[in-house]
Amino acid sequence: MADWRPVAKAAEVFENTINKAGAAGLDLILLKVGGEVLAYEDRCPHEGHPLSLGALEADVLVCAKHLWEFEVKTGRHISRVNRPHCNLKARRLRIVGGVIEVDVSGTGEGRDAGHEEEG
Ligand code: FES
Repeated sequence: MADWRPVAKAAEVFENTINKAGAAGLDLILLKVGGEVLAYEDRCPHEGHPLSLGALEADVLVCAKHLWEFEVKTGRHISRVNRPHCNLKARRLRIVGGVIEVDVSGTGEGRDAGHEEEG
């Protein structure tokens, strides 16, 4: 069952910025690309370093610790081989009345976890 929590006002999440957020003890980053907002856990799948300390280079998020790279739109670890266990953990997100809400239930899922937009 979903557990939607407000994390930010949609108008305060900007492109080309790693927007830090959190709810229910879960640290998140919000990334806005082409007008779409994505929510990922603020924890690198490699060794857990906060991704909010990383850098955005166009549509690629770079972890500050060992420079792993992730495609922002999909959360996929950029690698020559497919390594799904190294992808970012996405959180379902919806916008209700201009407020971004994130589903903090469970342990998170892949990018296909979804995006909803309401009101
Ligand atoms: S902890 Fe992020 S690349 Fe190693």
